[in-house]
Amino acid sequence: MHNQIIIKLFLLTLLLLIQVCKSQYYIGDNRFKYFTEVFSWKQISYDFDGIKYTKDEPIQKKVGGIFFRDDVEEKDQFFKQYNNIPIGFEVYKQKVFITVPRRRYGIPSTLNVVPLVAGTSPLLKPYPNAESIDSFVSVYRPRVDSCERLWMVDTGLIEVPNNFEQKRAPQIIIYDLKTDTEILRHEIPMDVLVNGTTSGLTSINVDVLPSHCDDAYAYINDLARNGLIVFSLKQKSIWRISHKTFNYDVGATDFMVAQHTINWKDGLFSVALSDPDDTGKRTAYYHPFISTQEFSVSNKVLQDKNADFGSSYKLEGVRGAFSQSGSHDFHKGSKALFYANVAQDGVMCWNTKVPLTTQTSIVVAQSHTKLVYISDLKVIDDEVWVLVNQIPVFIYAQFNTTETNFYVHKVKVSDLIKHTVCDK
Ligand SMILES: *[C@@H]1O[C@H](CO)[C@@H](O)[C@H](O)[C@H]1NC(C)=O
Ligand SMILES: *[C@@H]1O[C@H](CO)[C@@H](O)[C@H](O)[C@H]1NC(C)=O
Repeated sequence: MHNQIIIKLFLLTLLLLIQVCKSQYYIGDNRFKYFTEVFSWKQISYDFDGIKYTKDEPIQKKVGGIFFRDDVEEKDQFFKQYNNIPIGFEVYKQKVFITVPRRRYGIPSTLNVVPLVAGTSPLLKPYPNAESIDSFVSVYRPRVDSCERLWMVDTGLIEVPNNFEQKRAPQIIIYDLKTDTEILRHEIPMDVLVNGTTSGLTSINVDVLPSHCDDAYAYINDLARNGLIVFSLKQKSIWRISHKTFNYDVGATDFMVAQHTINWKDGLFSVALSDPDDTGKRTAYYHPFISTQEFSVSNKVLQDKNADFGSSYKLEGVRGAFSQSGSHDFHKGSKALFYANVAQDGVMCWNTKVPLTTQTSIVVAQSHTKLVYISDLKVIDDEVWVLVNQIPVFIYAQFNTTETNFYVHKVKVSDLIKHTVCDK
């Protein structure tokens, strides 16, 4: 009798302990400790075929001769180091692509590459080579598809505040990564833009099966004008979807990043695709930037320009307070989505096998110094990679150029979600 009570008490204590441990997985257990730093930079520098740009240069140096001129106007400066902010990235084998959109003067090259083993703070090299810098005006977040191609949107826009200059029409550009040659340049026509606005075309996602490389679709967000632009590679056709779920949520504005209030009105930011079934059907998960909600729609609806979007989309749920996020991406193995959660300097996750609630959408890693504004996030095999650029500091204050300002980090998915609600 006495023994039984002791056993029962013991079991109860054990249960209680398990509950306490479990709850620690939801709060307090910050997985940032598992991150590995891939690169970090105080400031961005360049290497043009051995000619190094490591401090401001008014004009481009040429092979066999260095030219100096002091009378160059600000807008004609070749390299103004402080203005070079990395915003997007991609990884292909041993290459890491780094983009520097032209949001200020003095950006010598918008599409760049560095070798993965380049050391801590590599100099960026123009992609595909130094002669091609004028082939690209401004590129945000490129993506590699499963057919070894690099896709990007060139907005064609020099986006200097109060002095926007549309250099040429925006374009979808595709490179073959096996040969580093251009495969396609397709103009994005005015009729899929709203009043010619190109500043919102900041992401591209490619929907293709490796067995049908010619039958690819690209989904491009328009965060400035709340739209989604779809491109069919096979048909060479392009159309726009507009819907209220792409709009920013006025109730989700005014959160803080790096002590600055973010009151932007950015709509649709990111589309993440689940793994396909045999027929190529996937779920496209999407959210506006200024929002705490997550929506989804079948990729078959996106691919049909006559589909009724309004009766096809689904509200997956509300991620909760301070869940405002930029890029997100899907991990096949776990079926979890990972989010660049800018409002909490962290990475959030939600496992798509369970309903989305504020309990199933959690911050798994956080750093108020090294994850301040994740500008781009990618799932690569079984790892999550992020590019951090602290851009609110650039916009509202001043970088301290003697400190590290930009990072690329990676972390294993298993380390990030083990024993959490994202691990199902
Ligand atoms: C587009 O431009 C027209 C004319 O300037 C203006 O009336 C309209 O409000 C603009 N639309 C948007 C969505 O900005
Ligand atoms: C910049 O960072 C350095 C090194 O951490 C520090 O000594 C210096 O005070 C900082 N400067 C400003 C203006 O905050």
